[in-house]
Amino acid sequence: MPTEIDDEPLRKLGLKYPLVVAPMAGGPSTPELVIAASAAGALGSAGAAYSNPAAIVEFADKVRQRTDKPFAINLFIPHAAPPVDPAAVERAIAATAGYRAELDLPTPQFKAPFEEDFDSQFETILRIRPAVFSFVFGLLSADHTKAAREAGILLIGTATAPEEAQALEDSGVDAITLQGFEAGGHRGIFEPDGADPEIFLRDLLAQCRGKVRVPLIAAGGIMTASDIRATLAAGAQAVQLGTAFLATSEAGTSAPYRSELDAPKRKTRTTRVFSGRFARGIENRFMEEMTPKMDAVMPFPAQNKFTRDLRGASAAKGSPDFLSLWAGTGEGELWQGSTSELIRSLFAG
Ligand SMILES: Cc1cc2nc3c(=O)[nH]c(=O)nc-3n(C[C@H](O)[C@H](O)[C@H](O)COP(=O)(O)O)c2cc1C
Repeated sequence: MPTEIDDEPLRKLGLKYPLVVAPMAGGPSTPELVIAASAAGALGSAGAAYSNPAAIVEFADKVRQRTDKPFAINLFIPHAAPPVDPAAVERAIAATAGYRAELDLPTPQFKAPFEEDFDSQFETILRIRPAVFSFVFGLLSADHTKAAREAGILLIGTATAPEEAQALEDSGVDAITLQGFEAGGHRGIFEPDGADPEIFLRDLLAQCRGKVRVPLIAAGGIMTASDIRATLAAGAQAVQLGTAFLATSEAGTSAPYRSELDAPKRKTRTTRVFSGRFARGIENRFMEEMTPKMDAVMPFPAQNKFTRDLRGASAAKGSPDFLSLWAGTGEGELWQGSTSELIRSLFAG
């Protein structure tokens, strides 16, 4: 007997559409995108992983000044990382010295911490009390789960394999984002250096349906109204779209990134060269040239911090060469108008 799905947690949000506009840390998720998505009846999501507590508060204040609709804040679950070997740092610096010279960047003074302090970010979220806290890269601890529950915050975890979905359900989340291999951006794989299970969305949905009782939010390669209909018909309770919203007027996507997205067929693949974790993006010079030099790529999150100056300078120069051009496998031109019009068209009829 298939397990009955209890979709009450999602219904409680009172969304007009079963749509999550994906959290997209690193620029695309602006307050304006979250406001427009939530005000239009979807769930807007703040990608706050790279933000410190003050920036998270400022973001949430901006959203609340313009809408009283529910929205999500999203973070990365941290993992105990082994200390970065100085020889690995030397290799990384040597392999990228030419790029830094090209971009007029100094040799980086590279030291820990490599990421924001999760506990401080989480404490901030407890104080803000968004309707939803969503997360990737693992499980939320039992203490954090309890604290979020007491604050009345709904929890959405991310799974790339049925075992991860099961572990999330057991940990007490309210819903699960199933991220297919098609998805743009970081793969939500729990293990930072684990193999990618490379399960496409349809298979992942089929493997989780009937086993997991919490609502399933399907993500990866969904671009059109008919993709949405097909995904809901395949058993998802809601869908999550990222790439489709990257070129909207409210997204904070940089100009060279927008130019690379502006092609009917985007050639994407997954890579660890930008952050040390697998993520899907459009092929570019940094991806091509660094892929044969994986011994000069540090683990996550060290590599993520190490490439930040390259990515920032590349955007400032208007060049896509060193940008992480996250995008999913979905084809077709991206909508360049307003988020609200895109949402209405995705659910027209
Ligand atoms: C630019 C970009 C940034 C992303 N950043 C995040 C993030 O910060 N947190 C997260 O949970 N997912 C992130 N994702 C993944 C999305 O949540 C979602 O899985 C993905 O966009 C779905 O596939 P699609 O891009 O084909 O629609 C990001 C995706 C993109 C395209």
